[in-house]
Amino acid sequence: MNIQFKIDVSSGLTKSPKTLPSKYFYDEIGDKLFVKIMNLPEYYLTRAEYEIFDTKSEDIIRKLKINPSDTIDLIELGAGDGKKTKTFLKVLLEKKYNFKYVPIDISIHALKALETSCKMEFSNLDIEIKQGEYFGVLEDVKTNKSQKIIMFLGSNLGNLEDEAAQDFLTKLSNALQVGDKIILGLDCIKPEEIVLPAYNDSQGVTKAFNLNLLHRINKELHADFDVSNFDHVPEYDEKTGIAKSFLVSKKEQKVSFNRDQTYYKFSKGEKIQTETSRKYNDRILQTLLRNTNLVQISKISDSNNYFNSYILERV
Ligand code: AVJ
Repeated sequence: MNIQFKIDVSSGLTKSPKTLPSKYFYDEIGDKLFVKIMNLPEYYLTRAEYEIFDTKSEDIIRKLKINPSDTIDLIELGAGDGKKTKTFLKVLLEKKYNFKYVPIDISIHALKALETSCKMEFSNLDIEIKQGEYFGVLEDVKTNKSQKIIMFLGSNLGNLEDEAAQDFLTKLSNALQVGDKIILGLDCIKPEEIVLPAYNDSQGVTKAFNLNLLHRINKELHADFDVSNFDHVPEYDEKTGIAKSFLVSKKEQKVSFNRDQTYYKFSKGEKIQTETSRKYNDRILQTLLRNTNLVQISKISDSNNYFNSYILERV
């Protein structure tokens, strides 16, 4: 059993209001549901970012100010299925850039699948997968002195509260050398009519993704959540740009963790916050970068202006 998982779940359920960390969504079932989410009609994020790489990879490469004679480590944090990245890799390979692709992910399933598909699609790609949480892995990235481009796509940063995001960017900045770049994909603040359906799709895939966290807790931590007693409820505040997902208890109930004789009470309507999905504008990003050695050198948008690929430079 994963001890850290257990500690995080019990501390989240002891808090008021209750929370559960979104990083635990991604077990084997969660990975599959997330791939389904990325293909949903309502989930505009992936399509918007894909369009940027599909139509503007050359522009991105120009803004990165790299030369085919440079030796580059292209490191992707939270690579997932790599669909967007592959369009970028294709252009880099065609232009004969000299790089190694290093996808990092917590999910070994996702990484192995990515490695296999990359090897099939690009016979001449130098790829080295790394399993782990971003920072454990960045530590050993730090010791290697080659020029780096970090890709952090999908608005994954949005899962962090602003303070944690600031901290993350500071650590990332410290792991880099002057001149290194980051391609940071961020979802833009936009009206509720567009954002909310992305987290509440008509097929119920996002609901299943959220509820799967309880199934995972039942399986791995021997709890007895009756998953049908919880609803999936997303919220979005257009003014702050913050979307949140909750699991809401449909009735008064008790959930036990049998192995350690503990239980948690839920009142009717009580919420567990399971995710934050922050949306951004330039000003919010500037605030996050304020105490780092990172500066925004460029921004590339999709045709709807739904999503931005920011290029940051370590100075
Ligand atoms: C992968 C964290 C960017 O917050 O939009 C999708 C995860 N959660 N639907 C997001 C997610 C519900 C996603 N990120």
